[in-house]
Amino acid sequence: MRTFTGAMIALITLAIFSISCSKEQTLSSITSPDGNMVVNTALNAEGTPVYTVSYKGKTIIDTSAVGFEFKGQEYLGKNMIIEGATTSSKDETWEMPWGEQREVENNYNELKLSYSEQGDSPRKFNIFIRVFNDGFGLRYEFPEQEYMTEVLLMDEHTEFALTGDHDVWWLPGDWDIYEQLYSNTKFSAIDAIAMRDHPALVATYIPENAVNTPVTMKTDDGLYLSFHEADLTNYAGMTLKVDTQNFKMTSELVGSERLGGKAKLTVPFNTPWRTMQIGESAGDLIESNLIVNLNEPNEIGDVSYFTPMKYVGIWWEMHIGKSTWDMEGSQDMNTYIEGAKNSSRHGATTENAMRYIDFASENGIKGLLVEGWNTGWDQWINTTDREGVFDFMTPYPDYDFDAVMAYAKEKGVEVIMHHETSAAPRTYEKQMEVAYNFMKKNGMNSVKTGYVGKIIPEGEYHHGQWMVNHYHKVLTEAAKKKIAINAHEPIKATGKRRTYPNAISREGLRGQEFNAWSPDGGNPPSHLPTIAFTRMLSGPIDFTPGVFNIKFDEYKTTNQLNTTLAQQLALYVVIYSPIQMVADLPEHYMVDGEIHPAFQFIRDVAVDWEQSVVLDGEVGDYVVIARQERGSDNWFVGGITGETVRAQEVSFDFLPEGKTYTATIYKDGDGAHWNDNPTAYAIETVEVTKDSRITIPMAAGGGFAISIMAK
Ligand code: NOJ
Ligand code: CA
Repeated sequence: MRTFTGAMIALITLAIFSISCSKEQTLSSITSPDGNMVVNTALNAEGTPVYTVSYKGKTIIDTSAVGFEFKGQEYLGKNMIIEGATTSSKDETWEMPWGEQREVENNYNELKLSYSEQGDSPRKFNIFIRVFNDGFGLRYEFPEQEYMTEVLLMDEHTEFALTGDHDVWWLPGDWDIYEQLYSNTKFSAIDAIAMRDHPALVATYIPENAVNTPVTMKTDDGLYLSFHEADLTNYAGMTLKVDTQNFKMTSELVGSERLGGKAKLTVPFNTPWRTMQIGESAGDLIESNLIVNLNEPNEIGDVSYFTPMKYVGIWWEMHIGKSTWDMEGSQDMNTYIEGAKNSSRHGATTENAMRYIDFASENGIKGLLVEGWNTGWDQWINTTDREGVFDFMTPYPDYDFDAVMAYAKEKGVEVIMHHETSAAPRTYEKQMEVAYNFMKKNGMNSVKTGYVGKIIPEGEYHHGQWMVNHYHKVLTEAAKKKIAINAHEPIKATGKRRTYPNAISREGLRGQEFNAWSPDGGNPPSHLPTIAFTRMLSGPIDFTPGVFNIKFDEYKTTNQLNTTLAQQLALYVVIYSPIQMVADLPEHYMVDGEIHPAFQFIRDVAVDWEQSVVLDGEVGDYVVIARQERGSDNWFVGGITGETVRAQEVSFDFLPEGKTYTATIYKDGDGAHWNDNPTAYAIETVEVTKDSRITIPMAAGGGFAISIMAK
């Protein structure tokens, strides 16, 4: 990293103690490489470090204080003095082993401020502020020091003072789960507490009027902001407590009753980065790489053991009630049928697995997930003690593990392991080594993990420090064995995939499966156009798209998806993940003995990208994204809309000059509607060049997908 010189120095005003009689002492400022964003720092009259942020001359974050509360100590963040300020900058390009794009530009200016308390036993901390063209990050460092060693953090008080009553897309600040629906209200109307009782969530805890992150906003001036955190390591997850009267957010960390605080820390330590992304269009937020840039480079080396892929699974059939996870026949998801034993509806049988393998290999799909292959599923949610109900080695007697593995190998299909931990991480940590060795011995390179239920032991939450460390341990132990992780009920994504690219995907949102469980509605049409601008800013999503049987005709007839079939196709492009499920049952992709014509898009669509461009969109309304396949000239476009019918103009000017492509457009058919006529679709093939403009209709809850193949 080089230090500022010459002209750059002019951007930094280091005026310590210069304004002696004013209330606030201006310290230093740091400006984004393009000069649009400025973060100013100061000490207020109490000696509290404060900062403000402006964008193109307008204040975005007004005077916001920082501070910490440690057990048995005085509040840290008053009577501070500044001991030093240094600046540096970086302008580099790094490569993603897999991702939304190959090359990522990492360009920022950084200010480091060193603070010390006044008095006899001064405590110290440093603040790092990195300003990029697309936002800023702020992190604290507690360096080695005399009067602080082991501490119990009771809370961190980082403020974000907003400058208006913004329009906000928010999730309640649930300490356990991110599977709530987003609300869209004015900041002043945020009421997280009203979301406490959720019928379909077994673990949920919302102690404060706080929001989870990423939380996305639109200002009256038409700017888009999203607040989150990056590099959440050995610390508690951050929710943002809202002061609806004063438009202020303050960090509120996830706690632990066992700990009696928020995080146990040993000096020296760093906190995660507190981040704000900014965009002049909603799509700018999606194109931003701020979160990954605020993580350390790859520490685990080559991850080519993981291949980005589409996968089928013995999975959706349990969610819609066709089959069960357990062989005893009592378990389909959240409809535990007491006494319904021996109903012979076990999904993971040898025969069924082979049927999925055939389907995958016939359609060029590389992966197969099998859930319910291992014993223990009759106990997993309904016992009072879920500890140790699974080992990850013993198949049910009707699942010939070796035969399935051999058949998959013969057909060129890779089997994905499933480890549902029942939210019993202590047991899982004991089992991990053996379970990962078992996987590798059998040629398995990735595992879907799960943490359904309240964390055992009681008093810990999915997003507390103890679990942050557990999820981290899973990543690092798996990396040692060359195993990739797709976690459900995960810790939130904070860009750690840069450092640990075996963190391939995760849930951490209300996924497709909710549609199967909710007779009262499932995910509303606005859900995914919201997700694209909120949850997706944090990282890849295992959403599990591609359901064609929209109304679950033979099974849960009271439940359904709230999208059209064309939108299901579009999701392969819109919702990014290096693994994409082809979620429906093989038989649902067949029409009169032939593969469904729209399935061709799923066959063709890529899962790993050279570059991604957001063509259009508004948070919660609609979004259109184009992505170029990695290592090829092919492009794919996906567009989705919520309730609003749209005539979407697509300009193909993302294509290179002078080339002609064959574009196959999969769109909503005449009269399509997510509820009244979800499966009406049309397919059209046209030639396109960089100059083409095509208007494509999107039905309510609809969308379109385009494959653009180089000729
Ligand atoms: C919840 C996960 O999200 C889902 O995909 C999985 O099938 C069940 N848990 C069982 O592990
Ligand atoms: Ca889940």
